Amino acid sequence: MVNSISLLGLQWGDEGKGKVVDLLSKDIHAAVRYQGGHNAGHTLIVGEKKVVFHLLPSSICHKHIKCYLGRGVVISLDALFSEIDDAFEFIGDIRERLVISYASCLIQPYHIKIDQLRERSRSGTKIGTTGRGIGPAYEDRVGRRSIRVADLYDPKVLKVKLEEALDIYNFLIKRHAEDQQEDLNELLDKNLEQAERLRPFVGNVISDIKQFQEDKKTVLFEGAQGVLLDYSLGTYPFVTSSNSSLGGIASGVGISPTQIDYSLGISKAYTTRVGEGPFPTELGHNSEIGHLIAKKGEEVGATTGRLRRCGWLDAVLLSHSVYLNGINGICLTKIDVLDGLETIKICVDYSSSLSNEEILESMALSDVQPIYIELEGWQEPTAGISRFEDLNDTAVFFIKKIEELCGAPVVMISTGPRREDTIIREYPLKK
Ligand code: IMP
Repeated sequence: MVNSISLLGLQWGDEGKGKVVDLLSKDIHAAVRYQGGHNAGHTLIVGEKKVVFHLLPSSICHKHIKCYLGRGVVISLDALFSEIDDAFEFIGDIRERLVISYASCLIQPYHIKIDQLRERSRSGTKIGTTGRGIGPAYEDRVGRRSIRVADLYDPKVLKVKLEEALDIYNFLIKRHAEDQQEDLNELLDKNLEQAERLRPFVGNVISDIKQFQEDKKTVLFEGAQGVLLDYSLGTYPFVTSSNSSLGGIASGVGISPTQIDYSLGISKAYTTRVGEGPFPTELGHNSEIGHLIAKKGEEVGATTGRLRRCGWLDAVLLSHSVYLNGINGICLTKIDVLDGLETIKICVDYSSSLSNEEILESMALSDVQPIYIELEGWQEPTAGISRFEDLNDTAVFFIKKIEELCGAPVVMISTGPRREDTIIREYPLKK
């Protein structure tokens, strides 16, 4: 029986995790985010309305699921309260089912300022961050000077920590923008005010999750971003600042890594990326197919509104992600976007002065040339199909090729945006 399931994006994020959460939700009792912050973005359709959450787990719109933000998540209280307000409007009161760890680190306004100022002033190494203070907030976490949720309830400690932080940040901000320095008293008052609003949501994530596990309830660990954006395993330095891979769950929540029963990986049938960084199979928006995929796949970022870069599926990277995350099953999304193409390419190897082992160790992808296999496309649409038997043979061949190249079964296939547009070959949470 599966009591703990992880849901991870296997590429550079935006693989369609929200829909998969929705499909599994009826069998989930608790959902935990373990990394990232409001740099993520999932668009949820609630009734007729569209609402985008960045920080709250996708599971929040399912009223029977208790949601958690673990210690590995960096929290902007401004973003949190704005999403709690949105949730109140669209879903209802979530006070009884949202718990935030005492140990989570806060994103303060100076983190956001410095993230944006740095990106603006960078020349060669612009990362293309979301500008939401994620990187600087994690730097403080590792630097042992973060203001954690618990500090909000000890005004003396809070004041000393803010003073220490402003010592660093006002100095840095001054270099770029003299007039944007933070005022200690204003910031202290703001934090103390927000502390009161936050109080009903603060709790003990570790003991709650332990209880769910003892009661044999199912816990979902919701990854944000994607494995290739993990700062340790991804395309460094063009990554986010957290461990978005399976490894991040243990330290980002407070559970043993051996507790994950099933690791479900999500991959698009092609590849996208937002922000800067190498992307071997990129097609470019000027190429006919790149443009077509972007348009048909509606590849626009939910957080920043930026156009996503699009390219062919990269099976070298995908199989690496499968290995690194002990993937038990893949959910392949957006296969319908490839409907009608004459040929479809999959990258199966790289041409480079380095070996593939060296490339994957260093993730030095900027100078590699993709080597493709070219498969026949399909003209008979996959869009809206919900039974594997109804897929055309050419699409089935494509799916089986992915399984062969990546060494994991494709257990779910998304054939369109609606919940019904899904083929479930093997339900991960079967009893
Ligand atoms: P940061 O997380 O804002 O520091 O941005 C670092 C990199 O991660 C940038 O390339 C962002 O575009 C990317 N990134 C962050 N969050 C997401 C996401 O949810 N989806 C896709 N890319 C993301």
